[in-house]
Amino acid sequence: MITRIIKDVNTAVKEITDGNVISLPTETVYGLAGDALNPDAVLKIFEVKNRPSFNPLIVHINSIDDISVYGEEIPEELYKIAEKFSPGPITYVVKKKQIIPDIVTAGLDSVALRIPAHPLFSEVIRISGKPVAAPSANMFGRISPTNALDVLKELNGKIKFILDGGECNVGIESTVISFTEALRSGTINILRPGFITKEEIEDVSGIKINPEINSGQVIVYNNYRETDSGIIKPVEDREINLLSPGMLKNHYAPLTPLFLTDDIDYFLTNYIPAAGVINLETFGSLHNIAVNLFRVLREYDEKKFEYIVVSKVKNFGIGTAINDRLTKASAGFVRIQNNELIFIGK
Ligand code: TXA
Ligand code: MG
Repeated sequence: MITRIIKDVNTAVKEITDGNVISLPTETVYGLAGDALNPDAVLKIFEVKNRPSFNPLIVHINSIDDISVYGEEIPEELYKIAEKFSPGPITYVVKKKQIIPDIVTAGLDSVALRIPAHPLFSEVIRISGKPVAAPSANMFGRISPTNALDVLKELNGKIKFILDGGECNVGIESTVISFTEALRSGTINILRPGFITKEEIEDVSGIKINPEINSGQVIVYNNYRETDSGIIKPVEDREINLLSPGMLKNHYAPLTPLFLTDDIDYFLTNYIPAAGVINLETFGSLHNIAVNLFRVLREYDEKKFEYIVVSKVKNFGIGTAINDRLTKASAGFVRIQNNELIFIGK
C-alpha cells in the first residue's frame, strides 16, 4: 500500500465513512482515526498500530452536548471544566452508553471523550457526522508523531492517507481525567498528565484531585503475554491496575536507549561520541519544551547514537506531563561518579 500525505478534507471524510483508517492532525499529536461506531474500522486501528486490545481508545466529538450522547452519569464539574478547556487537549472518561462498541473501550464500561481543537479534525467530524476513535498515530509503545512526515515514518505502507495539518501546536497528548468515581466519592482522577494541568483543573472545578493515582501506578509490559488467539492478556489480572493503560511503564520510547540524568552539564561540557545529549533548556518555556519534545526525541533517535541523555524539567504545571513522558520513554538513569558513567536500568 502506498501512503500519501494529502491536504483534502473530503478524501479524509470519505475514508472515515467508508470504514477505513486515516491519520488526522490534532492540536496535541497526530491520530490514527476511524469511525468510532464501526467495530470493523476500530479493529483496523488496533491492527495497524499493533496495539494490545486491552488498551481503550479516545472518541473524538465536536461539542460539549455530544458528551451526554456517548456518556452518562456526567457530573456538573465536568461541564465546568469542559466550558473552560474544550475544544482542547483534555479527555473526559465517563460511564459509557451502549451505542459505543465494546472494542473501542476494550470492554470497559467507561468511555474517553475529547473535543479536539484542530480545525481539520473538527471538519472531518462535522462533515462525516461520526464520532471518531483515534489513538496517537505511532506504533504501540513508540513516540507519538507531531507532524505528517513523522506519521509517514511511523506508518508508511500501513495506511492510505495522512491528512496534513501542519506541526501540532501542543506536542504532547491530552490530559486524561476520569469522572467515573465522581458521583459516588466526589473525586476526579488524572489518569494521564497533559497540557492542561492538575492545578488548572482544580481551580475551575473547585475539586481537589486525588494525588495518588496519576502516573505513579504502573503496569509493566512484561506482565503480558500473547494468548493463542494472538491477543495480549495480563498474566496476573489481579496484580494489574487497568485504570488507564497509558500508565504502561515503557511507552513513548525511542529505539535508542534513553537515559535520564541529573548531570546534564557534565554531558554538555564533556564530549562523549556515543551520547546524544538533549538539552531541553534550549527550548525555553515548559510550553515550548512540550511542543518540541517528541520531535526532538525522534530526531535524536534517527542520529543512531548508542544512547540518548536528557534531564527532567521542573515538576510543576506542564512539567509534570513532560517528566511523565520522559520517564516512560527512558531505559534508566545515568550519573557521574569519579568521572565515570554509572548506568542504572529501570
Ligand atoms: O491527545 C490525545 O489524547 C491523542 C490525540 C490523537 O487525541 N490521543 C491519544 O490516544 O493520546 P492514545 O490512545 O494514545 O491514548 C489514550 C489514553 C490511553 O492511555 C488510554 O488507556 C486512555 O486514554 N483511555 C482511553 N479510554 C479509557 C477509558 N475508558 N478508561 C481509562 N483510560 C482510557
Ligand atoms: Mg498513544
